[in-house]
Amino acid sequence: MRIAVLSDIHGNHLALEACLREAQRLGVERYLFLGDYVSDCAFPRKTLEVLETLSQQAPCVFLRGNREEYLLAHRAGGESHWCPGSESGSLWYTYREMTPADLDWMAGLPNRQRVELPGFPPMLLCHGNPEKTSGTFKADAPETAELLQGIAEPVVLRGHTHLQDVFIRAGEQVINPGAAGTPKWMGGRGCFAVLESGEGRFEVRLVQAAYDAEAAVAELKTSGLSEIAPVWAAAVAVMLRTGNNFIAQALRMAHALQQEETGRDGFAEEVYWLRAAERLGLTLL
Ligand SMILES: [Fe+2]
Repeated sequence: MRIAVLSDIHGNHLALEACLREAQRLGVERYLFLGDYVSDCAFPRKTLEVLETLSQQAPCVFLRGNREEYLLAHRAGGESHWCPGSESGSLWYTYREMTPADLDWMAGLPNRQRVELPGFPPMLLCHGNPEKTSGTFKADAPETAELLQGIAEPVVLRGHTHLQDVFIRAGEQVINPGAAGTPKWMGGRGCFAVLESGEGRFEVRLVQAAYDAEAAVAELKTSGLSEIAPVWAAAVAVMLRTGNNFIAQALRMAHALQQEETGRDGFAEEVYWLRAAERLGLTLL
């Protein structure tokens, strides 16, 4: 049996569809999703529709990512500062696109889950690490060994870093399928992993599926996202085209510039985002 593992779609329904087509071509029968379904790309409901259709056709497991946690925190009255602009406009837009049923679905998702399937080693699924959706799980970090010691399952599936990798530490195999929607250092590709078992073997294949990144960039404009969060959308476009993480770079620079000039930390005003874009050579859409 072959299983596909997908994480970090971030609303890129075009990349998701390409990944699913490739998974079907490879004979995948089941799907495991590690969270961060929406936010960053345009028309996030399209991603949820694709997932809903898939879950009617094949067995699927869905976990919650940190982006779903943000949206739920906003609904609960937290993160109330979201507004148009590059600082939080992408989340503001995404939240407005969600239906109450979408948010209820996210609220019902687990943060971690053990999955046992015939012929496969028991697997623990999480988004960042088993303790925290936005936690990290670095191969060589001392805390990774500590985290792994408390895990009974021999295989851990996790996402969040947007990088495909597989490592073995303390007898545990840790697999990251990369990002289906916004992979790092991979333009015009959606990433996922295929797990295969049979006759005592367990194999992991890291897969990349080509899709039309320009079509996803065009949707940043037609959705209005490029007007709501101009610098953020421009940085997402670079990410989609090249995999270069300008999102994090622009965010850090906007905050640093505001801090330098005003001493104020936290929420950066648009003027600092625009200056950050200029310094990074980021062209608005
Ligand atoms: Fe994430």
